[in-house]
Amino acid sequence: MTRLDPLPLFPDSDRAAVRHLAAGVALMPGFVDAADLMPAVEAIAEISPFRHMITPGGYRMSVAMTNCGQAGWITERTGYRYDPVDPLTERPWPPMPESWSRLAGRAAALAGFPDFQPDVCLINRYAPSARLSLHRDEDERDFDQPIVSFSIGLPAVFLLGGEKRSVKPRRIELQDGDALVFGGPARLFYHGVGPLKAGAHPIVGECRINLTFRRAL
Ligand code: SIN
Ligand code: FE2
Repeated sequence: MTRLDPLPLFPDSDRAAVRHLAAGVALMPGFVDAADLMPAVEAIAEISPFRHMITPGGYRMSVAMTNCGQAGWITERTGYRYDPVDPLTERPWPPMPESWSRLAGRAAALAGFPDFQPDVCLINRYAPSARLSLHRDEDERDFDQPIVSFSIGLPAVFLLGGEKRSVKPRRIELQDGDALVFGGPARLFYHGVGPLKAGAHPIVGECRINLTFRRAL
């Protein structure tokens, strides 16, 4: 059932609202602040640097990635998986900041998923023209848990498809500070990100950063 509620205000803040875009999909504009998140992004990238992973098909991804938490999402010749060790540094991924997991849990709860405790955060960095082709997040163990995504920096068009790759994706503009939650009936929907337009953000710089929180293990 698609909910088209008016916008309920956050219980403890009046600066943003929850927009139910489809069953299991909620957008919270201005839920996070780039100035709060960016120092930890930089600290994580000092330990486990952003890198362009190579897909099993041999393509270099235009999005640069790193991870924090109990494991990280990685590509291999044989496929995709979560690994507790960063293959680049051969050390564990940096821990997830507690403030991040708390924020992600709160976003999930506001979207209708009350028990979300992420163990992994994939950090994506999009430079101008970088994009992410349609895919499903299907490497996690428990699809009852939603995906929570925070976007900071330059705006991007999030492409929200459906259960089949053939469903024409809906275009959702994600702005600096937006949280997007997808779970329940939308958990395995195809999704992607359109090519990033050039620009500059005062704190994040000439790029967009997206954090996706998952319960992977
Ligand atoms: C993802 O699908 O993993 C990232 C989505 C985004 O960058 O908004
Ligand atoms: Fe994804």
